[in-house]
Amino acid sequence: MKLFIVEDNQAGAELGYKIIEESLNQGEVKVMGLATGSTPVTLYERIVASDLDFSDIVSVNLDEYVGIGADHDQSYNYFMHKHLFDKKPFKANYLPNGLNENAEEECARYDAIIEANPIDIQILGIGENGHIGFNEPGSSFDSKTSKVKLTESTILANARMFEKVEDVPQYAYSMGIHSIMQSKKIILFAYGSKKAEAIRATLEGPVDEAMPASILQKHDDVIIICDKEAGSALSTETIEKFA
Ligand code: GLP
Repeated sequence: MKLFIVEDNQAGAELGYKIIEESLNQGEVKVMGLATGSTPVTLYERIVASDLDFSDIVSVNLDEYVGIGADHDQSYNYFMHKHLFDKKPFKANYLPNGLNENAEEECARYDAIIEANPIDIQILGIGENGHIGFNEPGSSFDSKTSKVKLTESTILANARMFEKVEDVPQYAYSMGIHSIMQSKKIILFAYGSKKAEAIRATLEGPVDEAMPASILQKHDDVIIICDKEAGSALSTETIEKFA
């Protein structure tokens, strides 16, 4: 793992953008794995402001809420169109279909999409409890796409996006940890002190299903970009080790 501690989310976006730009210019990228949440917004703004061409690139998103449709303004599909796809056209954009009530069928459909489109660069945020995608603590490291029950802490953390906490869906479809780990390169972004403990455990803690992001220690090309607040619980030793 390589760690960069940057000034703020603008500097994080700039650094992430440069890494993506270099990979794209080397012709190494056909598929990008994308994330939602507030964290990647500055990266998507930076991509939109660039003249980088994504028209030959396929995107595969990490997750989607169950029970709300693609045009619901809190769906991840809506989010991705608003922040990126409507302004920067891709060859194709894939997300799980939150309205498919048949979970088995939807998960198999999404796994087939992931298999047909192996991810070259995966963008990740991180939950306060260390979740990646919507793989909550306790999710198997061998997991593929599944319907997950969101934890109380995730529902509360995401409630700010909804009118009231009762409106936050209880379930989501999420790409599994196994699939995330198959990505060739992973760039994880984290901003703010609420992420400090999750970042510390990701880099310093044991590799344990109780802390989903800790599995990234086993991947050979992970870049973690965080601001000072998100990096504030890291020891000097860790900062030097991954510099
Ligand atoms: C959400 C998403 C994750 C995201 C995380 C952090 O629940 N499913 O993919 O990384 O929570 O969100 P934020 O970036 O808003 O802090």
